Amino acid sequence: MKTHSGIKKRLVRRSEMMPCKSAFIDAHTPGSHLKDNFSIIGPGVTENKEQFINIREPHGFNIGAAGQPPHIKNSLHSHFTAEVFMIHEGTFEIYWGLDGKNRTTLFEGDVVSIPTHCFRGFENVGEKYGFLFTILGGDDTGGVEWAPKVFKAAEDHGLVLLEDYGVWDKNKKPIPKGAKSVSPMSNSKAANYDNYSIEEMEKRIYRSGSKNPLTIHPLKLGEFGSIQINRLIGSEETKIQGGDGFELLIFEAEPGGGYKSFKRPEKEVFICYRGSWKVDWSGDGQKGSFLLNSGDLFSVPNYYGRSIECIGKKEGSLYSVINKNSPKIPIWTNL
Ligand SMILES: [Fe+2]
Repeated sequence: MKTHSGIKKRLVRRSEMMPCKSAFIDAHTPGSHLKDNFSIIGPGVTENKEQFINIREPHGFNIGAAGQPPHIKNSLHSHFTAEVFMIHEGTFEIYWGLDGKNRTTLFEGDVVSIPTHCFRGFENVGEKYGFLFTILGGDDTGGVEWAPKVFKAAEDHGLVLLEDYGVWDKNKKPIPKGAKSVSPMSNSKAANYDNYSIEEMEKRIYRSGSKNPLTIHPLKLGEFGSIQINRLIGSEETKIQGGDGFELLIFEAEPGGGYKSFKRPEKEVFICYRGSWKVDWSGDGQKGSFLLNSGDLFSVPNYYGRSIECIGKKEGSLYSVINKNSPKIPIWTNL
């Protein structure tokens, strides 16, 4: 039976997200050396075994974040599952393809889903610290594949990737006896990775403000006040085609808008983008209420009741990540 403290561990405040400064092999490469990497939910994809993870429980997806001061880059890499970026603070330029030549600028509230088997990187092109959330499909994401030149640059700055040890700084400690280095990808293999035109990538981007709220959806019956749902990634009536094992919604409400209590068979993670949201929950004989402010996250266990309400004086936006391509119809319940 889960206790109240058990459920409290599923609430992660923005201030409790712990950055790792050497999560990946490009941690010493000038231009990428000041980035913060956060693993918030799931086993993670970090290459550093000491990375802190807030919620280790597998969710069917991994949620992390990247924090970057102005002009700091996240190097070109690829994943085996879809990777979503949700721009939370700041302005980022994303670039993709082995040469990283195709690029577009993403602003706060924009969301992109980058396909597998395609190199991507991103730079904070704004004047303030930038922060974006990431969703990677699957529990075991298969890790990160770096573009060959990223590996080479890392080695020039003392970092190697070892099979059993992760990222290793050979300037600090000699490589352990018998340790095997992970080999960089060959140039010929990298050249076979996919590329997309700017127009093709734009179809995988939700631009904040390009609203197309769902008119008919199961939560409509429990709606109160002014609230809307946009399906950003999913199977039907969606901005970006999903199929990666999760659905991404955004609720947008005026203060006083929300949904009455419901439960669902899937795990659901709320991430507060803007405003303040009250989330009442119940399950396993317990109930309680959490207040989510910008950047806070709460993972609701499956079959727990939850109701949400935008409170305070400002409009609110709340992401919902649900661990199925096509979640079932929610069930109305009492808290
Ligand atoms: Fe990534």
